[in-house]
Amino acid sequence: MPFDKNGQWAAPKAKMNYDKAERELIDSLEADLRTHMKEAKPRRYRHSLSVAQTAERMAAAYGAEAFLARVAGILHDWDKVLSADEQTALALELGVDLGVEPSLVQPLYHGMTAARHLPARYPDLPDSVWQAIDRHTIGHAHMTALDMVVFVADGIEPLRADVPAIHEVRALVDEHAPLEDVYWTSFYHGVSYVIDTERYLYPGTLDIYNELALRRRANKD
Ligand SMILES: [Fe+2]
Ligand SMILES: [Fe+2]
Repeated sequence: MPFDKNGQWAAPKAKMNYDKAERELIDSLEADLRTHMKEAKPRRYRHSLSVAQTAERMAAAYGAEAFLARVAGILHDWDKVLSADEQTALALELGVDLGVEPSLVQPLYHGMTAARHLPARYPDLPDSVWQAIDRHTIGHAHMTALDMVVFVADGIEPLRADVPAIHEVRALVDEHAPLEDVYWTSFYHGVSYVIDTERYLYPGTLDIYNELALRRRANKD
């Protein structure tokens, strides 16, 4: 039972068999994040560390690479220190084009921008980390296990309130439901939230929803 009834992570700290180089890299990335974000965005900083630990533990439970999940979690919201306008400007500068008016999709950009400029700073990290960061805001119809654990961990990390949608996803993780089901539930609750609050729904999200829904239906038949 990784989550207790208050949504706090109750499992004992997982023992990861990292080698010295991996440990040192985690320490230096966390130090970089501290410098980059702790003062500017303290809540976002704590969220990032919490996503990293949640993703790491989920990866260990689901057979994804725990080290890469931890690293992706640390870095996933790197560009959230920027203002909304700065995030949009950076997206345009880096050629991120979602095919709609940028102001409509501004909150979706930060993962895609980080995935494009951080590899220059951390050239030794594999593409799978950048892909997971790239996909953490919108998702994708063909997610790897690493993509899924980072996406889901972002939504359920223990600092997030235990509202019903999050509670349901946490419960699925608790019972070790298939990762595809956990991701699907997390994804469609995200879509539902956008509709329930009468916000703009990015058409690319709807495309992903439809592809996932059709595949799930086909797998059931
Ligand atoms: Fe994010
Ligand atoms: Fe996040």
